[in-house]
Amino acid sequence: MTHLTLVKARKEDCNLLFDWANEESVRENSFDSSKIIYEDHYEWFIKKLKSPDTLIYIVKNGNQSIGVIRLEKRDNDSLLINYSVDVKYRRQGYGTKFLILMKENFSNKTLIGKVKKNNMSSIRAFEKAGYIKTDKPAYIEFSSKKVLRWRNEVNR
Ligand SMILES: CC(C)(COP(=O)(O)OP(=O)(O)OC[C@H]1O[C@@H](n2cnc3c(N)ncnc32)[C@H](O)[C@@H]1OP(=O)(O)O)[C@@H](O)C(=O)NCCC(=O)NCCS
Repeated sequence: MTHLTLVKARKEDCNLLFDWANEESVRENSFDSSKIIYEDHYEWFIKKLKSPDTLIYIVKNGNQSIGVIRLEKRDNDSLLINYSVDVKYRRQGYGTKFLILMKENFSNKTLIGKVKKNNMSSIRAFEKAGYIKTDKPAYIEFSSKKVLRWRNEVNR
């Protein structure tokens, strides 16, 4: 049975997150695709754990660690979402479930995902989770809520 829980990342998760971050397709699908050095990751991770603008969750199914979700505050209303699923759990619907779980847990915020145009699995996951798609020149943007583009639309 699948029952996903969100567990806030702790210092002890540093190595697991390093392995996940350096996995080939995670690097390929990141906007900065260069390989990560452990010392840089450690420094980055400790900084992120302390940051009031970042939330990092390990997603668990029972005692299995399925993947990671990172949320970065963009402004008071919106959060940028980053996520990955451990290779051995991919193509089982978890990516889509992660994104639905985020919508449920952060329904008061707009969640934004920026996806490379060739990242078909993430594009499908956002679509299936019901996010709204906008084609930008350099990437595809997904939003958990309709973005109001014009000031006068707010008053309609
Ligand atoms: C993107 C990612 C999280 C998707 O996780 P997942 O658990 O495999 O996703 P799901 O099982 O929910 O699959 C979502 C859809 O993508 C499809 N899919 C999965 N892998 C695919 C692939 N390699 N090529 C094409 N479609 C793929 C699935 O079939 C499914 O669509 P369907 O139901 O219409 O068949 C995972 O591939 C991953 O961690 N990738 C590396 C990191 C990454 O790209 N993160 C997102 C950055 S924006």
